[in-house]
Order: sequence, then C-alpha cells, then structure tokens
Amino acid sequence: MINGQAIGIFDSGIGGLSIARQIHQRLPNEHLLYVADSIHAPYGEKSESYITERAFSISEFLIQLNVKAIVVACNTATVSSIKALRAKYTIPIIGVEPGVKPAVFNTKSGIVGVLATAQTLKSVSFNDLAKSFSSHVKIEVQPCPGLMEQVEALSLDSDETEALIKKYVFPLLEKGADHIVLGCTHYAFLAPIIKRIVGPNVEIVNTDVAVAKEAARRLDIASLLSTHNGQGKVEFWSSAPSSVAHRQFSLLWGESVTVFKM
Ligand code: DGL
Repeated sequence: MINGQAIGIFDSGIGGLSIARQIHQRLPNEHLLYVADSIHAPYGEKSESYITERAFSISEFLIQLNVKAIVVACNTATVSSIKALRAKYTIPIIGVEPGVKPAVFNTKSGIVGVLATAQTLKSVSFNDLAKSFSSHVKIEVQPCPGLMEQVEALSLDSDETEALIKKYVFPLLEKGADHIVLGCTHYAFLAPIIKRIVGPNVEIVNTDVAVAKEAARRLDIASLLSTHNGQGKVEFWSSAPSSVAHRQFSLLWGESVTVFKM
C-alpha cells in the first residue's frame, strides 16, 4: 500500500503555510494540497456558522480532490468547526489550538499571554482549555484585529505591523506574562518581529511543529502514511487574485510556486 493520496491543508489565508512547511519538512514524501480561503478572510471577525460553512465548502473541495486526511491549519476554523467536520467525514481531521499547555508548563511568572482572533478567544473550546489551567496559572488573552491582514499583505516587518504588535503585546507584558502564545497560524510569520519586541526574557510559543507531529502520528495510526519514494508534490490553491496569491505563496514558501485559482 502506497497511500499516495495528498494531505489536504486549509486556512482562511496564507497563515496555515506555517503548518504546511513543518508537515512538508517532517513528511517530505507526502503530497500536500493547500487551500487559502483569502477572499473570505479574516475568519476571526466572522460568526461561527459562517466559518463552519466555509470549512465544509473547502473540505468538500479537498475531498473531491481525493485527500486522505485534512489538517485545519487555522485556530479559528478549528474552534468553530472541527467537531462538525469530524462528525461528517471519516478521514482523519487534524486541528490546531493555541499552545496554552506548553506555556503553562514552562511559565515562571505564572502569567501566560495569548494572541489570537476574537472568534478563537470567545469560543467554548478555547475557554474550556484556559479554564482547565486557571487554578495555577493566569491566562491573559488579547484579540488582534488587523494583524492577520498585515501577514496577508506580506507586511511582515513594517512600522505599521510593529505598532500593531506593540499595541497588543505590551498590555500582556505589563500584566507580567513571560510566555506569549501565538494562537493564530498567521502570527507564526510575525514571530521574528514579536520576539524582537518582547525581548530575550519572554518566550514565544508556536504550535506548528506540534501540529506536524500530530498529523504524522494520526496518519500512522490510521496506516495512511505514504510509502512513496521521493519528494512529495505540494499543490497550492487560493481564492485571492492570482498575481497576489503568487507573490504571497512564493515569498512564504521560499521559492516561486504556481498557485491555482479556486
Ligand atoms: N489563521 C487563522 C487562525 O489561525 C485566522 C486568521 C483569520 O482571522 O482569518 O486563527
């Protein structure tokens, strides 16, 4: 058995490429099919039912393309729709949630800051997660409107992005946070500038490596890991205008890539 079908990965935009690159590194022989729903972004400002409808629409698209598993490379889509996706589809569906657990485990100040979308922070699953640690650690949350748009615009190191990050991060630092959890996959591409702003004594927590490991584990359990020899193909799809998408994907993937229009 070769299991040569692709792994489908989707996000509201290009943020999930931070997860896709880790999966590609860890499982280089797997074919990947990435979908960016940029035209409907940001999900973080939309209702749960709207996001769930988008998640189903993209999952149907991926299933038509015969994927063997789906990685929801978006915290906002995960908290909004993963239960419904898992109820409908029998293939493995892997999600992503803010890395509160490792931050809680390692904090010395006892205060953990979480940057995420408004929709993630108000979701039941995030609040349940935060509550499960609240007896020994204080979790301070900060919604970040406008920040994913800076990533979509490839404004990864501009004055405007820096000002926005300071506005969101400084209140968390003032409250004593010594760990800042990046609870949105787009923010992974801002990790260098966030690190520069918070300084050496504050840890940035990202979950992209953990999600890639989890995807590998789930595929292994389901006996779906590819035994195909050689490099897997990575195919990109986006609802953004083609010239924009080409620029976005090529920059973040680190080489000039073709992006199909959906
Ligand atoms: N990348 C998405 C996440 O991880 C959200 C960005 C958006 O608001 O669409 O939550």
